[in-house]
Amino acid sequence: MNKIQTRTVSVCLSPALLPSYNLEESIVVVIDIFRASSSICYGIHNGADAIIPVLTVDDCKKYSSSDFLLAAERNGAIVEGFAFGNSPFSYTEEKVRGRTIVLTTTNGTRSIQLSKTKQAKKVLIGSFLNISALSHWLMDQQHSVVLLCAGWKENFSLEDTLFAGAVVEKLKESFIVNDDAAHAAYDLYTLAKGDIAEYLKKSSHSERLEKLNIEADIEFCLQLDVVDSIPVLENDRLVKLG
Ligand code: MLT
Repeated sequence: MNKIQTRTVSVCLSPALLPSYNLEESIVVVIDIFRASSSICYGIHNGADAIIPVLTVDDCKKYSSSDFLLAAERNGAIVEGFAFGNSPFSYTEEKVRGRTIVLTTTNGTRSIQLSKTKQAKKVLIGSFLNISALSHWLMDQQHSVVLLCAGWKENFSLEDTLFAGAVVEKLKESFIVNDDAAHAAYDLYTLAKGDIAEYLKKSSHSERLEKLNIEADIEFCLQLDVVDSIPVLENDRLVKLG
């Protein structure tokens, strides 16, 4: 049987569920719409040489030297003592071109680290900012796809699930969808897609970011196709997929 007809697209709704997935034959797309995966897509597109995702703030500090830009976020805020956090506005061309950034975030970089341990064919980063480029590239591959929602502290998140549903919509004619989470993500996306920004006002992380007065980040992260780059994990670094 032609392998292309057997590929599936599935959705892992939280990193807590990842241990039950066998990813060895799959491409994983890590999703953290507010804001890690959006900022990573923007930074890589804007010419960062690489973004090194690390688990802890201490891991990040180990890279202290003028060679690296250190970025650390916890609970939505920049960690004290760091110049950069996780806002896409910190990942503009003038700030990141030619630089290597070492990044730790509450959920996003953790999910990237977890994916690394599962021997996936590839680990990519997805966001609304690169959704078309990402979906087209996935359609040209012969592997199954697992969309991993970083969520919030092991819990389900609306924004990551909606994005997963948007990707399922794009892939469903070319991939088999036989996973309840993928059907649920797609149905939720169908419900919300008329006005995603309005729908996501109820998301817990929107509320968190609003309390920190960073609503502009929410608006930025919900833009479609601002970039055509796809970050890919190579060893311990996220670089632009060639
Ligand atoms: C995360 O990784 O948890 C998020 O990107 C949090 C944020 O900075 O908004």
